[in-house]
Amino acid sequence: VIDLASVETPTGCIDVAQVRANARRVAGYCTDHGLAWRPHVKTHKSTDVARIQLEAGARGLTVATPHEAEVMSEVTDDLLLAYPPVGRTKLERLMDLPERVRLTVGLDSETVVRSLAEASRSAGRTTGILVEIDVGMHRVGVATASECVRIASTVAETDGVDYRGIMFYPGHIRVPLGEQDPLLDELATGLSNVLEALDASGLTPQVVSGGSTPTLWHSHRMPGVTEVRAGTCIFNDRDIAQLDACEPQEIAYTVLARVISTAIPGQAVVDAGSKALAKESFRSGGSGFGVLLDEPEITVRALSEEHGVLDVSASAWRPAVGDLVRIVPNHVCVSVNLQDHLIALENDHTSQWSLPGRGRQRYTPA
Ligand SMILES: Cc1ncc(COP(=O)(O)O)c(C=O)c1O
Repeated sequence: VIDLASVETPTGCIDVAQVRANARRVAGYCTDHGLAWRPHVKTHKSTDVARIQLEAGARGLTVATPHEAEVMSEVTDDLLLAYPPVGRTKLERLMDLPERVRLTVGLDSETVVRSLAEASRSAGRTTGILVEIDVGMHRVGVATASECVRIASTVAETDGVDYRGIMFYPGHIRVPLGEQDPLLDELATGLSNVLEALDASGLTPQVVSGGSTPTLWHSHRMPGVTEVRAGTCIFNDRDIAQLDACEPQEIAYTVLARVISTAIPGQAVVDAGSKALAKESFRSGGSGFGVLLDEPEITVRALSEEHGVLDVSASAWRPAVGDLVRIVPNHVCVSVNLQDHLIALENDHTSQWSLPGRGRQRYTPA
């Protein structure tokens, strides 16, 4: 039995055996379908968790920031920055990564191709490039196949950068697994058009990088995909469970909190507020900011910075002041980013895992 009396709440908490099992399941799915797994580390920000992913078979890592790249270069030589690096400091930091790092960058403009190529040439490096295409999320990514061909040919003709292929993020597909077919069909049509146009121009991509956790188990249905960047799947959350993209027991991260007040009937208040759980809406439908792992009918009805209000009206469960609860946040990545460290539960004991990937300061490996 794990002794949690000495654990200060609120705190992010992970079940290490489940983290390992999640990593094995994703890596196994990818192997079965001839795909590479390049998990996005924004979910966990931890070199310990990244090592678990790499040991399970992940082929390199995906990062969002130069800081994450600096940190994760400690555990892998193969990084994809899935975010266009704009601004001199970002380019300088990328060029200062250890020489052994094979860096690939996703981008959607010739402006960034030019600045990255210039920085790479001055640093005596070659940076790989994936041209990002928009497949329906309408956030970043070129809107047409011809625009993709135009940028890909610029990359192919420019010294300092190496054209490696394309990437896309299907972040608009946030319906349960069983309802994804029409959206996957639409995605397949758009993606096939781009692939045909690239083939016709002699720019066949080596890498087609895609994937998200809601669509993870359908990645093999996306035409031409060679690698999957799903990251949330290492911990999962309330949203992912609601979309049937994980089983309830595959939720490996919770916020451990203590009940601090039961004074008002029908509710209990815990010490985890928006500064521990994050005030993310329940995107896949429904209300509340989280749910109790062990009492799934109890939701976090309201949040202020340091208080979470549990609605206990739907259950006979009546907690006492001092009771510990484990809350599954709506969106795990933003909750992890609010923690000082993670409490790792493993083999009946607890340890603290650091989160070096948080923050934006330049990171110098020890
Ligand atoms: C560009 C990109 N790739 C991959 C991912 C990982 O997707 P998920 O969090 O659904 O696992 C994200 C998540 O935001 C992303 O923005």
